[in-house]
Amino acid sequence: MSELKTLAVLGCGARGRLYAEVAAAAPEKFRLVAACDPVAARAARVGAMSANPTFREFSDEADFFAAGRLADALVVATQDHQHHAHMRHALDLGYDILLEKSIAATLDDVLDIEARVARTRSRVMVCHVLRHAPFFTAMRDILASGEIGELVNFEASEGVEPWHMAHSFVRGHWSKPQETLPMLVIKSCHDMDLLSWLVGRPCEAVSAFGALAVFASKNAPAGSPARCTDGCPAGDTCFYNAEKYAGPEGRHRLGMVYDDPDASPEKVRAWLRRSPWGRCVYRCDNTAQDHIGVGLRFEGGVTGTFTLTAFDSGRHYAFYGTKGVLRGGPSYRTFSGADILVQPHGGGEPRRMRIDVPGGGHGGNAPLVHAFHAELCGRGDGRTRLDASVHSHVMAFAAERSRATGKTVEIRGNRF
Ligand SMILES: NC(=O)c1ccc[n+]([C@@H]2O[C@H](COP(=O)([O-])OP(=O)(O)OC[C@H]3O[C@@H](n4cnc5c(N)ncnc54)[C@H](O)[C@@H]3O)[C@@H](O)[C@H]2O)c1
Repeated sequence: MSELKTLAVLGCGARGRLYAEVAAAAPEKFRLVAACDPVAARAARVGAMSANPTFREFSDEADFFAAGRLADALVVATQDHQHHAHMRHALDLGYDILLEKSIAATLDDVLDIEARVARTRSRVMVCHVLRHAPFFTAMRDILASGEIGELVNFEASEGVEPWHMAHSFVRGHWSKPQETLPMLVIKSCHDMDLLSWLVGRPCEAVSAFGALAVFASKNAPAGSPARCTDGCPAGDTCFYNAEKYAGPEGRHRLGMVYDDPDASPEKVRAWLRRSPWGRCVYRCDNTAQDHIGVGLRFEGGVTGTFTLTAFDSGRHYAFYGTKGVLRGGPSYRTFSGADILVQPHGGGEPRRMRIDVPGGGHGGNAPLVHAFHAELCGRGDGRTRLDASVHSHVMAFAAERSRATGKTVEIRGNRF
């Protein structure tokens, strides 16, 4: 069996292009052969990466699927509410698939995809990139090694980061869970996935609270207009001033939603006058929660808490075991110089680990794509296979049910 796998990309936005770039940089493993996006320039950007003169670009998904199976494998990186339909078509054509999270927009559709994959026996991996990131694999190795003894309970938190919150969950794609997916699924399915992997046991019950506290009209500065570009009196001091997109500090996130990365500040300002990303964060139609707390109980009685907040940055953990405590996260690095500290009970120096990722970021994207290649070649380790990810999606949907109803939700297998 050839180790060179042909790859097509459906949805050439921020994530689709990122995976295509990793594949293009590994020509001994992947050959990019086709891409589809209704924004033709995005499919063309993947085509330009491919160095493939016979690369096929599509701007209509109907034409893309009508063309039959064009590659060994397909990256599905469209928006979450499209995944179910796109997975059905792709599975019917026999593709192996690298599927962006969330698996689907509803639990029924997640379970339907699981059943279809069981029937077609396609190789499907979910882009839970953090299971492939060095920081998380190090924590997983420590927990599995027994260094802190038996795990008893844990605290975990995810700081979305205020500007990211404003960009994605106030102004952006995922600001209205009622039209897309619950915050606990769209954002925290990564966290539920990490916790189920790190704890290493099925989750049995969840209980959650959460609301929107800050990004609401009651907090708008006096006299602020609907758009930051309309001369806001608080513009000079407002942390969330959308005009930052036109300057160097806003370019990173701008590039995720605006197709001309080198546009002049004037051109970006003109775009802000009509784009959702130009709106005052206190005057959007957002409903996504900016703070959520979840209690979890796992098989064998391990318990823990998970906090999502817009008002911190990065993921932090404390795992309490019978022999010691494992702590990790970016604040530990700020205060101690180490990303992970393992403190045995009874005192003594903690073991300190520093995890440096070349190029910054969490470092999980490229290893995920390489793991997908291994999976396609029949030697994957199964870390983010669909079946591993379904349970963590169930946890996330169950937590949202609890948040919405105020009741503890018991999980049995993949049902609640
Ligand atoms: N794994 C992660 O860490 C992570 C991070 C961010 C987003 N995501 C997920 O990745 C997915 C994509 O997010 P994104 O930020 O790249 O969004 P995006 O909007 O940048 O990309 C989606 C692309 O799909 C295209 N598209 C829309 N309809 C299409 C169709 N019918 N056929 C083909 N293409 C179509 C859009 O034009 C767009 O280019 C979402 O499911 C999101 O939740 C995952």
